[in-house]
Amino acid sequence: MRKILSILMLCTATVVNGRQMQQCLPIRLTCEHLQNPLGVDQAAPRLSWQLDDNRQGALQTAYQVMVDGDSLALLKDKADVWNSGIQKSAAMLVQYAGNVLKPQTKYFWKVRVWDKYGKACTSTIASFETGMMQADRWKGKWISDQHDRHERSAPYFRRAFGADKPIKSARIYIAAAGLYELSINGRRVGDHRLDPMFTRYDRRTLYVVEDVTAQLRQGKNAIGVILGNGWYNHQPLAVWNFDQAPWRDRPAFRLDLRIVYQDGSEETIISDKSWKTSAGPIRYNNIYTGEHYDARLEMPGWDRSEFDDSKWEAVRYRKPPSSQLVSQLLVPIRLVKSYVPKAVKKINANTYVFDFGQNMAGVTRIKVGGPAGTVVRMKHGERLLEDGHVDQSNIDVYYRGNKELEPFQTDLLTLSGREKDEFMAKFGYKGFRYVEINSSQPIVLDSSSITAYFMHSDVSPVGHLKTSSPLINRLWAATNNAYLSNLMGYPTDCPQREKNGWTGDGHLAIETALYNFDAITVYEKWMADHRDEQQPNGVLPDIIPTGGWGYGTANGLDWTSTIAIIPWQTYLFYGDPSLLASCYENIKRYVDYVDSISPNGLTTFGRGDWVPVKSVSNLELTSSVYFYADATILASAAKLFRKTADQLRYEALSNKIKNAINAKFLDVSKGIYSNGTQTELSVPLYWGVVPEEMKYSVAANLNKKVVETGYHLDVGVLGSKALLTALKDNGFGDTAYKVAVQDTYPSWGWWIVNGATTLLENWDLKATRDISDNHMMFGEIGGWFYKSIGGILPDTAHPGFKHILLKPIFPEGLAESSISYDSPYGQISSHWKSSNGFVRYEVKIPANASATFYPPIDCEDRRVISLEAGKHTLHLKLKVREQN
Ligand code: BGC
Repeated sequence: MRKILSILMLCTATVVNGRQMQQCLPIRLTCEHLQNPLGVDQAAPRLSWQLDDNRQGALQTAYQVMVDGDSLALLKDKADVWNSGIQKSAAMLVQYAGNVLKPQTKYFWKVRVWDKYGKACTSTIASFETGMMQADRWKGKWISDQHDRHERSAPYFRRAFGADKPIKSARIYIAAAGLYELSINGRRVGDHRLDPMFTRYDRRTLYVVEDVTAQLRQGKNAIGVILGNGWYNHQPLAVWNFDQAPWRDRPAFRLDLRIVYQDGSEETIISDKSWKTSAGPIRYNNIYTGEHYDARLEMPGWDRSEFDDSKWEAVRYRKPPSSQLVSQLLVPIRLVKSYVPKAVKKINANTYVFDFGQNMAGVTRIKVGGPAGTVVRMKHGERLLEDGHVDQSNIDVYYRGNKELEPFQTDLLTLSGREKDEFMAKFGYKGFRYVEINSSQPIVLDSSSITAYFMHSDVSPVGHLKTSSPLINRLWAATNNAYLSNLMGYPTDCPQREKNGWTGDGHLAIETALYNFDAITVYEKWMADHRDEQQPNGVLPDIIPTGGWGYGTANGLDWTSTIAIIPWQTYLFYGDPSLLASCYENIKRYVDYVDSISPNGLTTFGRGDWVPVKSVSNLELTSSVYFYADATILASAAKLFRKTADQLRYEALSNKIKNAINAKFLDVSKGIYSNGTQTELSVPLYWGVVPEEMKYSVAANLNKKVVETGYHLDVGVLGSKALLTALKDNGFGDTAYKVAVQDTYPSWGWWIVNGATTLLENWDLKATRDISDNHMMFGEIGGWFYKSIGGILPDTAHPGFKHILLKPIFPEGLAESSISYDSPYGQISSHWKSSNGFVRYEVKIPANASATFYPPIDCEDRRVISLEAGKHTLHLKLKVREQN
């Protein structure tokens, strides 16, 4: 193994040197949108790369993908598993089409690319490893301890075993109903948190693959597993009825540890009755409340081979939670960033309050000493009361558990009496900025006693923004912090009160998400959750995953259009139609259902413009516009997949919906929809319902409305998604900008000047309901900067930013903007400086892509300019602005 690695590194160095001569290199090789993944179960995985080639007009004229099981042979171009041959194509995302892939096998691959001049360059070697592929490969049994779902303590499991020969490689395949933490020989395996991710457990259970080669040793070994309840065994009550979920049970797991010895032989250690189980220090754990940990009950060495487990109990076999065991092929949740307290306040000898300066989702780690039996309560919250204590009243409103025994967002640590105990919850997370620590006996704490960890799906940042406006910079950072706080293997509404996968919040934020983070794998998983939850008639629940709650009356189009909007946006951003293809039948079933209940093309199925500032908008109008959006996406998908009959049918349906909306709601003489609220004017503009000849007058009315409010918002979530783009795309970019950077009530900026470090749930800081301080549903703002001052837009005709539409605005009041987006082709950057009516605009287009620049309406010269890959500097003169 070591030998292969050093040879690979050597090879990298050669290629790096070689690159100086050939000026191009395929980089960022991914499989299923992940780097060197383990557990690939797809028969034809997707492979992609980028081209690092800074030359002007750089192109890929051909490619050749080579796959082999032997990395050394592949270095010499032996590709017996798949050799695509030289394909004269610019494609950088291809589907594997070689020999049938074998399960539990590592494959190496590389790509050779021919540049614009026909010169070849070759990538370094990447890999992917297949997973179980078929259910019958699993050898381990589902096991749990003897307790039922009411037991409060977390079960610990162990198995000691010998590995008597030198080990070549070892993998653990582990599936759990609930959450697990795995260790080998006393050391935790991997750095994931909250594995496996939340799914509808009785339909689809996820398994994880870990490379444990380095942790095993020749001789005696032991594996330890601790199980947590997670969303699988929800004990205390909350209004979404997860305690009544059909899958609810005592957590269980299944495990195969496959060891391949250097002599070529194999052995699999499996979960079976040879394991033993015991309760341990985790006395209680729940996703909403926290963990209760008694350090007096720690069992040093419990996951080492020499531990005496004679007092441990037998395990029992369990039925599999579902018949679908699927590899968890997505970016894991991790502790991504740590925070030391910014301020510590000692209230009395037993009470301290810590401020981490940032609202976040995550966990805290405490190190503290005190008399044995001292109970230390760690209460997490987003706000402080005037007396300095932590205030949870904005987030505990839907919690129905016993607040004394199972306090909300609070960990309980019972001290052992040793010099220091250390504790961090394993099986949950909280939304917080402040932590109040209260102990039953006086304890001594300072800023080194507690660390906070911001935890989320560890998606890589792909967007970068810096402007001359500190408010924009802070708004952007707050948006990203709200987004990340709400990404735990599925997008949530808030990390504290609910942690629910509210569908509306998910799609309202999708563009902002994709401009800023490489999150496709999370959405692919969430859309699989959607497919699991869709009823046969096409209806989807409000929250996904759900334990059954949410198939009510408001679960309509403005929320559950996730099923169409998210696959469509991932197609536009990644140029990858797979998610759209796998959701195609589901979108169709959804649209057909709405069609069946809306014979005239109009529908009131929906929730409406949730949390508005003041004006209430027409529910039938907004729901019908989302119906139109879904039918249009479906028609476009049908066209893409060459389903002509469907295409014609859904084009006709979308026309019917559009005509019905305009017939009922558009006052042609005035250019106003319904009562003309900001939402009622911007939603039809944004989603393309307004007839071409009416666009200007509707947009002018919207502009007027916004000017009348002094450039303030008067919208809820649906209007907040549409307003800025509706203005910008229809000639009122300056107005849109003024709204975006407004900092008095009601506006996004108002939150920031009042100290918000994430986005909030309510415009009104004094509101008494819907007042979480970490919500993503108003998150359009953070993505809008890319679309407006960055002007970087995907082109439906050439998705994945193969062709980029550059439509920036250079608004009055902003001197400089530097925005970039790491697209599937590489980094697109858009940087400009404006002064005295002149703009110097510098753009960078990645290799193998191109762009078209559309000067905004206030440019003197409005000629459209085509740009090839490379760097471009444009000097633009702006028209003299009218003063108003
Ligand atoms: C959630 C929202 C959600 C809404 C829908 C709230 O409780 O926090 O974000 O979309 O309910 O009604």
